This record gives sequence, structure tokens and C-alpha cells, in this order.
Amino acid sequence: MTLPTSLRCPACGAAVDERGRCGGGHEFPTVDGVLDLVGDRTAGTASRAVGAFYDRNPFPAYAADDDVARLMTRVRRSAFLQALDAAIPHEANVLDLGCGTGQVTAFLALSAPRRTLLGADLGRASLREAEGFRRRSGIANVRFVRIDLFAPVLTPRAFDVVVCRGVVHHTADPDAAIEVAADRVAPGGLLVLGFYETFARAWHRMRRALFSRSRAMLRVLDPILRARDLDPTKERAWIEDQYAHPVEVSLALPRVVARVRGLGFDVLRAVPPVPTSSRGGLAAVESLGSSAMWMRRVGWALRGITDADAGLVTIVARRH
Ligand SMILES: C[S@@+](CC[C@H](N)C(=O)[O-])C[C@H]1O[C@@H](n2cnc3c(N)ncnc32)[C@H](O)[C@@H]1O
Repeated sequence: MTLPTSLRCPACGAAVDERGRCGGGHEFPTVDGVLDLVGDRTAGTASRAVGAFYDRNPFPAYAADDDVARLMTRVRRSAFLQALDAAIPHEANVLDLGCGTGQVTAFLALSAPRRTLLGADLGRASLREAEGFRRRSGIANVRFVRIDLFAPVLTPRAFDVVVCRGVVHHTADPDAAIEVAADRVAPGGLLVLGFYETFARAWHRMRRALFSRSRAMLRVLDPILRARDLDPTKERAWIEDQYAHPVEVSLALPRVVARVRGLGFDVLRAVPPVPTSSRGGLAAVESLGSSAMWMRRVGWALRGITDADAGLVTIVARRH
């Protein structure tokens, strides 16, 4: 697959070609099969801390024996990922911003071979795993690239769909990160933005406070650990990501919705719940007035103790 021409040089803004060269004479290395547009120049302290954290804890982890069949089996258990796949056209040009180890990227590519996927992330170790899995599995319609999302390296309005899940709340400036993701969506395209929501994450914040006193309590209180069906690598990655992350905030749904509307989008819905295809799927419009949002948030807070996503909420929005 050729590199989409949607990448820009962080130094001069000229288009970067497949070999990592830009029209302004700058060159970027390919490391472990991944074009690196960052080098050692991360934007700020938070990005450096987050980069270092994920270099120790690539997320989500692959189990030692993971392959395409196992990935697809896992994904089929997720109503959200099934609905996401159904909402993305089969020939769409998709950006997975903050793709981590690229499991969602690989799934969306495998489900529709005519889709093109660009997985972009800051984490070297995560991208090494993403590219290793891609190569081992012979997935041809994905390309991974190392970027700091705050550097202007992704061309505005270049993607039919931007998926950005679990990322903006791990940055120093979530509002600016939301704008970066939104700006990359083409007119008429979809933004799928997942973030820790203040009410939805309330239970988890209590668990996290308890964690500093008793690790044993986690086995009882965390629904993912309680299920006791994780591979040890995946379990360790989950504990680090959820209980030891150096940069994390929660965002209020009304604030995120207002922000995304202000950037020129219709906000179609908030998830959970995941709508079934008979109810129009992920891109079907629901009413998201202030009382509807309030009720939804109270519902999320109440289900917090059993929420396997630990307060991760997703909004789906379409650019005018
Ligand atoms: C919790 S992981 C989410 C991974 C993936 N989206 C998923 O849902 O499985 C958050 C990811 O955001 C990435 N990230 C955080 N700050 C970033 C930045 N400034 N630029 C690019 N990626 C960043 C991290 O490297 C990490 O891989």
C-alpha cells in the first residue's frame, strides 16, 4: 500500500513521500517498518511522559499467541467494534489517531480490504507491535506512522473517517487534541471520538484511589480483572493503563459535545448504549439536548461498577 499523501513535514509543512522525504529537503527515518515523523522532538513534557509510559506498556497488549483469528474472535465480542465497522463505508480512507498497538486499525482493515487505514501514534513500542502484527498477518491496506498529534503533520480534511479513541484524555490539552482529530475529517465525514467521561469514570476514580491502598481489592472491584480471563501480558497492560497512567483527565459530555459542534459537526449520538443495526446503527441520529445528556450521564455513573470500559464514552459526529 502506498503512503497516503496526507502526511506533512513537521519542519516545513511540505508533503512527505513514501520514503520519508519532503519537498523542503527534510528526511525522516523508517524504524521497524514505521515512518517516524517525531524523532526525539516531542512537543512537550506531557507528550514525553505519555510516550515513555507507552514505551514501557504498549496498549492494548497482544497476547503471545495472537493472530488474525484470535483478534477477530475478540473483536466479535465487542458490540461497539461491530457497530463501528458497520458504520464505516468499505472504501473509506480512515485515520486511527492514537492507534496504540493498532488492534482496532487491523480489525477495520481486515473487515474491508478496500478500506485504507492510517494508524498514527506517538508510542514507538506500540507501533513496533502494530507493524509486527500487520506484517505477520499480511494486512496490506494499513500503514502506521509515528507522529505527535500536536505537530501539524496530518493534512486537514483528508480522511473520510477519523477514529480517535482513548487518546485526548491522555494529553496535556484535550480541547486542542479534539480539534486536531476533528480538523482531519473531510466534509460529510465521520468523527468517532472516545474519551473518559466525568460521570462515567466516577466509579473508576474511586477504584483508582483504593488501588494505592490495596492491590488485592482490584480483583474484586475491577470488572475486567474480576472476570479473570486475561492473558498475563494483557492483564498487566490493563492495570498499568488504568491505575498508573501519568496523564489522565475526565471530560464532561456537554463540554465535548459543544466543542465538537463548534468545530462544524452535527453530533449524532453518544455511546453507550451501542445501537443495534435495526435501530440505525452507530451513525443514526439521537436527540442530545441538555436533559438527555444529563440523564445519560447519570445512567453511566450508576452502571460504573460493572462497566468493562471503565468510563470510556464515544461520540459520533458528522462534519457539515
Ligand atoms: C489508551 S491508548 C488507546 C489506543 C487505541 N486507540 C485503542 O483504543 O486501543 C492511548 C494512545 O494515545 C497515544 N497518544 C497519546 N498522546 C499522543 C500524542 N500527543 N500524539 C500521538 N499519540 C498520542 C498513546 O501513545 C497511546 O497509544
